[in-house]
Amino acid sequence: MAGLDDLKADLLAAINAADSSDALEKLRVEALGKKGRISAELARLGKMDAEERKAFGQAVNQLKDQVTDALAAAKASLSQAEMNSRLAAEKVDVTLPVRPESQGRLHPLTRVMEEIAAIFADMGFVIAEGPDIESDYYNFTALNIPPEHPARQEHDTFYLNVGADGSRPVLRTHTSPVQVRTMQTTAPPIRIIVPGRTYRSDHDATHSPMFHQCEGLVIGPDIHMGHLKAVLIDFCRAFFGMEDLPVRFRPSYFPFTEPSAEVDIGCSRAGGGLQIGAGEDWLEILGSGMVNPRVLANCGYDPDKVQGFAFGMGIERLAMLKYGIPDLRTFYDSDLRWLRHYGFVPSDMPALHSGLV
Ligand code: DAH
Repeated sequence: MAGLDDLKADLLAAINAADSSDALEKLRVEALGKKGRISAELARLGKMDAEERKAFGQAVNQLKDQVTDALAAAKASLSQAEMNSRLAAEKVDVTLPVRPESQGRLHPLTRVMEEIAAIFADMGFVIAEGPDIESDYYNFTALNIPPEHPARQEHDTFYLNVGADGSRPVLRTHTSPVQVRTMQTTAPPIRIIVPGRTYRSDHDATHSPMFHQCEGLVIGPDIHMGHLKAVLIDFCRAFFGMEDLPVRFRPSYFPFTEPSAEVDIGCSRAGGGLQIGAGEDWLEILGSGMVNPRVLANCGYDPDKVQGFAFGMGIERLAMLKYGIPDLRTFYDSDLRWLRHYGFVPSDMPALHSGLV
């Protein structure tokens, strides 16, 4: 029995001195494992007589329980200490500066579309949309572009296969068909802009087979050319951020408007560069006109009761001019370096103040 007391003192001292969970586990195996010291004591029971076995068995089992309890207690306090020291070592320092995150950029086209929408929203316009795949009727006929009219060739249209009804759908060559769709389904007054994708078979530094336009349409009982001029002058000045930007209306021709006018802004080309707002030169930026009475009639309106104006502009062209982007093709290269250079941080986007339904 004296041997057991020594063993107990020995084991408990070692358990108290253990300084890690690993050390404790080693002690557990040394004491209670199959070949452990307590197990060795238990093995001796077989050779004892009944009397001795009872007393020794009780003592060894008691020792076993004491050692097991001591191991459990030591383990609990060690793991608490280990957790505390891990928490101290791995503490997050909230005062450290935030690691710079790579931030995405908005494409200049997105930016320019938002700028255009924000300006027209302030004037009470709402956004309308239509399909990219159009019928010949909406893209041409309803807009007073008759069959065999040269405009159909000029537009270098992408035609789709002839459908079951014999008609040939087209990828819309302009956003103007949405004028017709809107007038057919909406009673005046109308004040819409139509940003969207358009398609023509053309590809060089200033043309892309897919590009974007923004159409505009205003219809009411007494809308006149003065409204057209005021809205478009205000738009040009707001878009280019120049209150005194010279704006000129030059007579032109579009089948869907009568009279028609191209809108030019003042610029200078001195020294080979282009400076908007300065000098004696002019730069064309959009087409416009009073909606042709034939188009009004095609849409079910009485041209003696309502009239209005329309306009259309190329979004890439406006983006290139405003942000000095020289080649249209780069808009669609998806080159991240280009986007980082010409793109915009989302939080800098203009807000839509009003005009949206
Ligand atoms: N649809 C014309 C184009 O693609 C642009 C345009 C000109 C639209 C005059 C209009 C307009 O609504 O009145 O070139």
